Amino acid sequence: MLKGRTVILGVTGSIAAYKIASLASMLVKKQASVHVIMTQNAMNFINPITFETLTGHKCLVDTFDRNFEFQVEHVSLAKQADVVMIAPASANVIGKLAHGIADDMLTTTLLACRCPKFLSPAMNTAMYENPIVQDNLKILKKYGYEVITPASGYLACGDTGSGKMPEPETLYQYIEKELAGPKDLTGKKVLVTAGPTQENIDPVRYITNHSSGKMGYAVAKAAMLRGAEVTLVSGQTALTPPMFVDYVQITTAEEMYQAVTSRSDEQDIIIKAAAVADYRPKTVYDNKVKKQDGQMSIELERTRDILAYLGEHKRENQFLCGFSMETENMIGNSRAKLQKKNLDMVAANNVKVEGAGFQGDTNVMTLITQDQEIALPLMSKEEVADKILDTIRDKM
Ligand SMILES: Cc1cc2nc3c(=O)[nH]c(=O)nc-3n(C[C@H](O)[C@H](O)[C@H](O)COP(=O)(O)O)c2cc1C
Repeated sequence: MLKGRTVILGVTGSIAAYKIASLASMLVKKQASVHVIMTQNAMNFINPITFETLTGHKCLVDTFDRNFEFQVEHVSLAKQADVVMIAPASANVIGKLAHGIADDMLTTTLLACRCPKFLSPAMNTAMYENPIVQDNLKILKKYGYEVITPASGYLACGDTGSGKMPEPETLYQYIEKELAGPKDLTGKKVLVTAGPTQENIDPVRYITNHSSGKMGYAVAKAAMLRGAEVTLVSGQTALTPPMFVDYVQITTAEEMYQAVTSRSDEQDIIIKAAAVADYRPKTVYDNKVKKQDGQMSIELERTRDILAYLGEHKRENQFLCGFSMETENMIGNSRAKLQKKNLDMVAANNVKVEGAGFQGDTNVMTLITQDQEIALPLMSKEEVADKILDTIRDKM
């Protein structure tokens, strides 16, 4: 996914330096070209050979190293870079960068870089809260650096507080957001619903369905990577919400209805991938419902139809996509839904087809619009998500 993109990782003299080995490895697995520049002091915490083995590139430390591949290495690397991540960023390097000091390979290369730059401060809480460091961070923000707020927690020095470098997976998400995908949904507001809803019967039991939320989460993440401002309204799932989306967690169909309809007006694109329970118990029992002769009787009523509301209140230029899970007559039933609910697209699948449906990581979908039926082959849910967004982009 990051093939052909060049990432510079700047590593400084902090105990968190060892964690950057996993970040380098994650990026290499996604086929990015990764170059690590370390400060002299960082070498006290991790050996450059670790990075050289993981990235396949010489780890740069010394500006005046005679053993170079390029003409003027700091300039040529700066030109190649698509993004820079300085992590962990020591108080010392933060100070030097804020004031234009370029006395080693890392700070010199950074002055020559025009690409987006992320910086992840990592230090003891007192150092991080020191007004000098805070002022330097403000200066760096002014110059266009994106400063990643440190996490709070137990620090290597034994203190507990802020100043902790986020985990490599989190740092990876920042780089991925910058580099992945065409940014063809920039400026668009996208609302995605995902996961199951739950309706209590009594304090112990509830009605729900098999939705894992994977398809909706994949759509939300893909839209975010393509530059959209994304709201994800999700039922209870076992998934971690994607970073950089506005996450709204709900439980019942009524809560989802409220969360969606209160935000629907401002959206350019609404994709309803959630599996909302159509029925709920008319009364939620205070005590456990007793079974009689092996039978349990509960009176049900319909939940509100979110898609029907959205179709009725669709504003001009708003794109509305529903999902349809069928066990028979998939195309016919989905087309009927498209017309009846005033949708622009139905992403349909036959849950009986192998590789399609709720729990797995793949799907077999047909995208149905007024004038087209696009039958997608078996794909990962991430690939399906991109196809859904491609089709919406082309139809808008
Ligand atoms: C064990 C140890 C851990 C350190 N951890 C940090 C740290 O997390 N953050 C920081 O700013 N400085 C830390 N320092 C101090 C820096 O290494 C020191 O300021 C050094 O001059 C930074 O050099 P550099 O910015 O060129 O890498 C640590 C020092 C030691 C001995």
